[in-house]
Amino acid sequence: MKIVVIGATSGIAEHCCRLWAAEDRADFVLMARDAAKLERIAADLTVRGARSVALAPPEFFDPAAIEAFAKATVAAGPVDIVLIAHGWLSDQQACQDDLAICRDSLEVNAVSPVLFAEAFAAPFAKANRGTIAIIGSVAGDRGRKANYTYGACKGLLGRYAEGMQHRFAGSGVKVVLVKPGPTDTAMTAAQKAQGRRLAPVGQVARETVNAIRRGKATVYSPQIWWPIMLIVRHIPRFVFNRLSI
Ligand SMILES: NC(=O)c1ccc[n+]([C@@H]2O[C@H](COP(=O)([O-])OP(=O)(O)OC[C@H]3O[C@@H](n4cnc5c(N)ncnc54)[C@H](OP(=O)(O)O)[C@@H]3O)[C@@H](O)[C@H]2O)c1
Repeated sequence: MKIVVIGATSGIAEHCCRLWAAEDRADFVLMARDAAKLERIAADLTVRGARSVALAPPEFFDPAAIEAFAKATVAAGPVDIVLIAHGWLSDQQACQDDLAICRDSLEVNAVSPVLFAEAFAAPFAKANRGTIAIIGSVAGDRGRKANYTYGACKGLLGRYAEGMQHRFAGSGVKVVLVKPGPTDTAMTAAQKAQGRRLAPVGQVARETVNAIRRGKATVYSPQIWWPIMLIVRHIPRFVFNRLSI
């Protein structure tokens, strides 16, 4: 099984890779901007059972480079899964105060993941196989004043995945959208320090890997977020706007 991971230094992605290494003896192609961290992860995955680990140069924003990477990676041997995991919990106030930060958030959290999804969709369509797994967020389900720039990016990923699921319905290509709730990774270190309850990253990784194995269209992780977000999405606006959530 060959697995490509974009944003492979992500805590959630790393724990998914540990499962794939131990259970599937997977071949990995990993991309992340932090080379030293990535090398540590590659060595660890090898010890845990990975058959091979290749490191790809970080190219997160250039469409031509992303397209060339996807084509070359599939041409080198069939790819079973691409996990698109990179993301940045941008500060909402900073996005409002500085449009350059707002743009950066849109590029990291929305534009770049979409480019990777499209780049792999083309060779996957040609081969009629492969799973595109995208990490969205419960934050994408409804805009909130606390994080609507990040949330809108995740909402865009959700709608994009939905369109791709329609495109590939009935084919051998699967598109899986994972929507974690607050999870214990580097991204939420500040929330953890404030005492916020976070899901264990191992649980979210397990549920992500299971959803990808089943080719599930959308998965909330932990699953309790499915009913919670069902309620949150349906709160009437005149009530919602009075809540500080
Ligand atoms: N943790 C949560 O509560 C939570 C909840 C819902 C959704 N998510 C989503 O889950 C995914 C994985 O996040 P995580 O929780 O595993 O967090 P994490 O451990 O902080 O990982 C974030 C990943 O994104 C990469 N990244 C950040 N900014 C980047 C940039 N400008 N260019 C390239 N890569 C960049 C990071 O690279 P570096 O290692 O170089 O920083 C890292 O690989 C993200 O899409 C996140 O939005 C997380």
